[in-house]
Amino acid sequence: MKMERRIPRPADLAPLMRFKPLELDGRKRRLAKAHTIADLRAIAKRRTPKGAFDYTDGAAEEELSLARARRAFREIEFHPAILRDVSQVDTSVEIFGGRSAMPFGIAPTGFTRMMQAEGERAGSSAAGAAGIPFSLSTLGTTSPEGVREANPDGRNWFQLYMQKDRDKSMQLMQRAADAGFDTLLVTVDVPAAGARLRDSYNGFTIPPQLTPRTVLNAIPRPEWWWNFLTTEPLTFASLSEWNGTIGELLDSLFDPTVDFDDLEWIRDQWPGKVAVKGIQTLDDAKAVVDRGVDGIVLSNHGGRQLDRAPIPFRLLPSVAAELGGKTTIVVDTGIMAGADIVAALACGADFTLVGRAYLYGLMAGGREGVDRTIEILSKEIVRTMKLLGVSSVAELNPDHVTQLQRMVPVARPGAAVAPPAVSTPAPAPAKRAAAKPRAKAASKPAEGLVASPNRTTS
Ligand SMILES: Cc1cc2nc3c(=O)[nH]c(=O)nc-3n(C[C@H](O)[C@H](O)[C@H](O)COP(=O)(O)O)c2cc1C
Repeated sequence: MKMERRIPRPADLAPLMRFKPLELDGRKRRLAKAHTIADLRAIAKRRTPKGAFDYTDGAAEEELSLARARRAFREIEFHPAILRDVSQVDTSVEIFGGRSAMPFGIAPTGFTRMMQAEGERAGSSAAGAAGIPFSLSTLGTTSPEGVREANPDGRNWFQLYMQKDRDKSMQLMQRAADAGFDTLLVTVDVPAAGARLRDSYNGFTIPPQLTPRTVLNAIPRPEWWWNFLTTEPLTFASLSEWNGTIGELLDSLFDPTVDFDDLEWIRDQWPGKVAVKGIQTLDDAKAVVDRGVDGIVLSNHGGRQLDRAPIPFRLLPSVAAELGGKTTIVVDTGIMAGADIVAALACGADFTLVGRAYLYGLMAGGREGVDRTIEILSKEIVRTMKLLGVSSVAELNPDHVTQLQRMVPVARPGAAVAPPAVSTPAPAPAKRAAAKPRAKAASKPAEGLVASPNRTTS
């Protein structure tokens, strides 16, 4: 078809010319190009020495637990409701006696200043500014008092590993309580150190050593090394110094004899709320709730401990059906997007924690990088909720999600038979029963996947 053509006039071009002012701050420029957590990870990888990046990014053995956990979040189908007023979306939740502006918080991570020199101060101040909780690890590289200073008005939680020297553990816990930390996460999935093979292949130690290989790897990453060498040497909240591998450190430090009675004793020492982190079966969830804790964190430590461990997100529906309303259910491992968080809430979680998503932001750009992580996840949560037709977290319920299952458990002799593949979502747990009823969604499994009732065998 012949089209009429004309010569464009300058007045036609002017409105099309939108030149952004040049951003002179390299960090801001870099972060502005990151639109997903995966983008932040790519920047982090470029800027962090291999040893520290792999320590963060990697998991145990063949890294199957982590890969499966991330895949489980991708293998869901959302069921949106139409014609709902979503002009205002309330993403805030009540968690362990306080409000959080978003349904996620920052998970405890050890050695954080090794990933990027601003470490826990960046994480906690960013969390405080966003109105979400920050968790400090027993193996944190900033003291509880330092975290309080960086996040004076926000919520800080303390994560406890029970050490062989119990007095030391209790002293550290007391310092956190005195610094106003309101919640204790007792991590129970490290009776022995997981085999982080990337660290073994990299010869990774704490502190990182200067070898010909690391020096060569440092050349394109001068800022990391400059920060590392010109800021306070790595010390830990819990121990003065360490020279060796992280596995050796964990095995030398932690008490593998800790049992349910010890948990009750720890609970009685802490003035605030107590949750157990690292729950991986429904039976253990029930057992710790019977011991009087305030909450559970379904977690396999980001796949860093037992490889081939249960996928926490898959455990959610059965745990929520049994314990929803009776305890606070938090889930982590594998969260890389706001949609993952929304799916977890719909399947019965009260709250979520993010580990690597936060650390990728930190490694990509210190405090501003953590701000970017929180911003990306928050925008994704709001957008997903709007597209699902919900305007508050309480409205999310299992009808919004079908888990599509690639790996179906095989029946064991004498054990409950694996659930048949059906497309009906599991019944809503008690605490969500008040959510608005919706017309049943017809769920159509993606190719090669089977729609699962929100249930797995333990
Ligand atoms: C580098 C790194 C260090 C961690 N250190 C601790 C720790 O000291 N204590 C703990 O309870 N969990 C620790 N975790 C586990 C996290 O708290 C959280 O369970 C996990 O990162 C969640 O998975 P995600 O990274 O896929 O979000 C660590 C995780 C990472 C990635």
